[in-house]
Order: sequence, then C-alpha cells, then structure tokens
Amino acid sequence: MSQSVPSPDGGAAASDVPPRVSVPRTGQSGGDPLPFQRPAGAARAGGGTVPSGSAPAAVGEIGPTGRTMPAIPEPRGLTQHGQARVIAMCNQKGGVGKTTTTINLGASLAEYGRKVLLVDFDPQGSLSVGLGLNPHEMALSVYNLLMQPDVTLEEVVVPSGVEGMDLLPSNIDLSAAEVQLVHEVAREQTLQRVLRPALAHYDVILIDCQPSLGLLTVNALTAAHGVIVPLECEYFALRGVALLKTTIDKVRERLNPDLAIDGVLGTMFDGRTLHSREVMERLVEAWGDKVFHTVIRRTVKFSDSTVAGEPITSYASTSVGAESYRQLAREVLDRCLDG
Ligand SMILES: Nc1ncnc2c1ncn2[C@@H]1O[C@H](COP(=O)(O)OP(=O)(O)OP(=O)(O)O)[C@@H](O)[C@H]1O
Ligand SMILES: [Mg+2]
Repeated sequence: MSQSVPSPDGGAAASDVPPRVSVPRTGQSGGDPLPFQRPAGAARAGGGTVPSGSAPAAVGEIGPTGRTMPAIPEPRGLTQHGQARVIAMCNQKGGVGKTTTTINLGASLAEYGRKVLLVDFDPQGSLSVGLGLNPHEMALSVYNLLMQPDVTLEEVVVPSGVEGMDLLPSNIDLSAAEVQLVHEVAREQTLQRVLRPALAHYDVILIDCQPSLGLLTVNALTAAHGVIVPLECEYFALRGVALLKTTIDKVRERLNPDLAIDGVLGTMFDGRTLHSREVMERLVEAWGDKVFHTVIRRTVKFSDSTVAGEPITSYASTSVGAESYRQLAREVLDRCLDG
C-alpha cells in the first residue's frame, strides 16, 4: 500500500484505502463498523443504556454518550490574548455538522471571552453564508490570501457579526486554489504560512474543512494543532472514519508531528431512537475518551439560524442547541485550551 498523503485531486487515492483487516467489535480505534448486534427482542425504539431526555445531562447523571457526566469547569477569564490553538473541523463525509459546529462553537468561545478567528476553507462558502455574507460581494477571500503573496491577513479578515469573532471568508474561487497549489513549493504548508501572523492575536482559530480529504483538507490538518471530528449519529456516518483516521495519522507522521485529535463530536443525535444511542455507544467503543460528553441534538433551529445568518447562540440563545454548544465550548476549553 502506498503511504502517500491523499491525492490533491479532491479525494484519497485508491491506493490510500486502508487494507482490509478484521475489525474487532470493541476497542478498535477508528475501524469501520460492523452492523449492530441488537439483543434478541430489542425494541425498535426505547431500551438501551443512554437516556433520551432533550436537555443536557446534569453532573453525575448518565449522559447521552452512556458515560457519567463529569463536572466541566467554568472557563477562566483571560487578561491577554494570543498563542492561538488552531483546530480543524474535519470529516470527509458531507452534511455532518462541520460548518454548524464551527459557527456555534466559535460563537460560544467568543461568549466566554476568547478572541476567535473562523476560517472558511470550503469553496461552498457555507460558513461565510451562514454568517450573513454574500459570496458574490467578497472583494477578497481566503483564495487571495493563499495565492497572492502581496495580500495580507488583515486585508481579508472581516467581522463575523459576533463580538470577539472574526472571519476569513471564502467562496467558489477557493476551488481553483486546490488545482493551483499543486504546483507550489511546500503546497501542504500554504495555509499554515498565511495563518502564522494571526496566532498572536487570537486565542482560537477554527478551520471549517470541505467534505473531502484533498489538498485543502491536508493544508488545514497541517496548519492545525488539533482536529475535531463531527459525526452524525447515524450508522453510515461511522463508515469512512477509518480513512479519516489514516489521513490524520499520515499528516502527523509526515507534516505535523504534534497534530492531536481534540475530540469526536456526536451531532444530530436523537435520544428517542435506539439507533442514535447505538451509534453513540459504538463511537465511545471506538474512540473512548476522545468522544465529547456533549452531543448536539437534532433540531430544526440550526437550519433556521443558518437562514437568519447568525449563530444559534444569538438566534435562539436559550435553546437546547445553544446550551449544548456552550457546554461543548467549556469542554474544549477544559480539554485543550485552558488546561
Ligand atoms: N444538530 C442539528 N440538527 C438538525 N440539523 C442540523 C444540525 N446540525 C446541522 N444541521 C443542518 O444540517 C445541514 C448540514 O450541516 P452543516 O452544513 O453544518 O454540515 P457540514 O458537515 O458542514 O456539510 P458539508 O460537508 O456540506 O460542508 C445544514 O442544513 C444544517 O443546518
Ligand atoms: Mg460545511
């Protein structure tokens, strides 16, 4: 099997597909899943060990991941900013909540007083649109920053509409970068290089990746200190995770030795269905403590807030969705920012 980093043409090369190995049902970190083995007579809904309530679980209760909810400390106040942690939101599967998590985790971290920069690194530009920008009215975008040495970060950064949170916007132009970067020296380090001046100004930089393991995503993983993998709580979402893990391992081995997996986030969780709870249990089996205690439940409020062009933390500030992203922000701060 070739050990090359996935091809820059938008997908992993066929030779990068991990070899077929027998995957034990438990304890296998990142292996593609076997079908669920429900106990005989298990109901189609109900049962299982994970509670189905809609509010975030209280400390000491069994949470939606099937583990006891720990106390997550209140974030400490900051007196100065800088030394940003760069976190890539990454999953090559589409529609799993990468962009929604980038916007709402970012907005929640900003509520806790962190200076946040969001990087729209997807030519679909959903992050920019989700914050109310018009993709056709962007004078400069991440594309210009990557490809034109005379364009500076300050020229491209725009306010996000949320206090304490800025945005590097993107539009379809970025798709050309994927092709043009192939001819560049140190093509995988291009985003890392252009983000360097931002590290001193922000506490957190969140990169919203496109749904592919191509050169743009490899750039994001090379620029990042950590990765958050959002995963829809649905059986097919578990497939392909092995390939994502292989890509992260290869980037760590060859380009970014300190790259950490900051966490795996269950999204679109529906506690009323046995299916969602089984997926959650399988995630914990495979990823252990990497799985955040916070899960994001399925609610139409996320689509509504996207249409409104603002985070759920301001659109529906007291909703369960907003509270869940605040809890995620506390978990992220405790795990890998304030620790
Ligand atoms: N918890 C949730 N409950 C219900 N809908 C959600 C939830 N999270 C996201 N969505 C909706 O699902 C759709 C896909 O979400 P999102 O754009 O965040 O995924 P993505 O992984 O960024 O997709 P892509 O791979 O295309 O970039 C959006 O319409 C979004 O509003
Ligand atoms: Mg997206």
